Amino acid sequence: MSKLRIGLAGLGRLGQRYAMNLARAVPRAELVAACSPVEAERAWVRDTLGLPAIHERYEAMLADPAIDAVFLVTPTSLHPAQIAQALDAGKHVFCEKPLSLDLDECRRAAAHAARSHRRAMVGFVRRFDESYRDAFRHIEAGGIGRPFLVYSQTADLADPTGAFLAFAPTSGGIFLDCSVHDVDLARWLLGRPKALKVFASGTVAMYPPLEALGDVDNGIAIVEFEGGRRAMFHASRTQAHGHDTHTDVTGTAGKLSIGRNPRANRVEIADAGGVRNTVLPSFYERFAPAFVAQATHFVDAVLDDTPFDLTMEDAVEATRIAVAMRESLQTGHPVAL
Ligand code: NAI
Repeated sequence: MSKLRIGLAGLGRLGQRYAMNLARAVPRAELVAACSPVEAERAWVRDTLGLPAIHERYEAMLADPAIDAVFLVTPTSLHPAQIAQALDAGKHVFCEKPLSLDLDECRRAAAHAARSHRRAMVGFVRRFDESYRDAFRHIEAGGIGRPFLVYSQTADLADPTGAFLAFAPTSGGIFLDCSVHDVDLARWLLGRPKALKVFASGTVAMYPPLEALGDVDNGIAIVEFEGGRRAMFHASRTQAHGHDTHTDVTGTAGKLSIGRNPRANRVEIADAGGVRNTVLPSFYERFAPAFVAQATHFVDAVLDDTPFDLTMEDAVEATRIAVAMRESLQTGHPVAL
């Protein structure tokens, strides 16, 4: 098989980016179908990419024997069932993060994938970012000694319209929506230690409607891992300057930082106001090449029958820790894992 024939489910905010990437930027992918229940989204993909098959229903797309693999960029609540349906239909499946907001559902989906003769991977895009990969290689080669401390944050530009509030009730809360990325990074950069205990707190700085949902717009958490390893997390929806995702890793012989200055480009402006950079507006501008690299990895690994960089157990573990963060935030108590 020279190309992997793909059906894409979900054509929303992120799904349209996936459609463009799979159609144009992933060398061994062939985007042959897409599905969405929303007519405007189907019209978009018809007009933009002119795909041979565009479906209203996911089940109709799965029935197509011309599809080898499915990409899921659908609402998180649908992921576990759609993964199982794809595997049962004989398709490999790539699913956007998080696997699920519910831990039991995560475990069932991972068990289903383990039993299947088809393959499943949940995407955590930051692992495919060149800077994070370089940092990983440096740590793996012993460059900072024994890594024992991670600080990682996902901080979005404040939105004066509060548009994200429409998604807040179904997002699982700030830790499952945002920190799940940082949790996966921390586990990866610290050598996949077992998490033992979580403590979380947070505050509503700008968006009072979150209070009724038991959610916050700034969440902080500490995770204790085995072997004395520790991680600190900050997730925010209220940054004044832009999208500011960065990670620090401290080891016994050094420290490294990834993405510390969230500048949009390499232009530095000096004037009477000081010296400054413009700032990345959102996660997509920061991680656009990584989304292509991630899709390319999935496609190549399926075609060449090589291992995925990310296992389903990684996805389950990220949710397990993020769920404990939410519980700690809501109860005010540490949570043992
Ligand atoms: P969205 O709400 O903009 O898009 C969801 C899409 O799914 C829409 O096109 C909708 O019509 C479609 N859909 C709904 N029910 C469907 C069904 N039964 N079958 C097929 N399609 C269906 O959501 P968004 O922001 O694009 O997020 C999608 C996923 O991507 C979520 O799981 C989210 O967590 C993840 N995500 C990941 C990010 C990252 O940094 N890796 C960033 C943003 C989102």
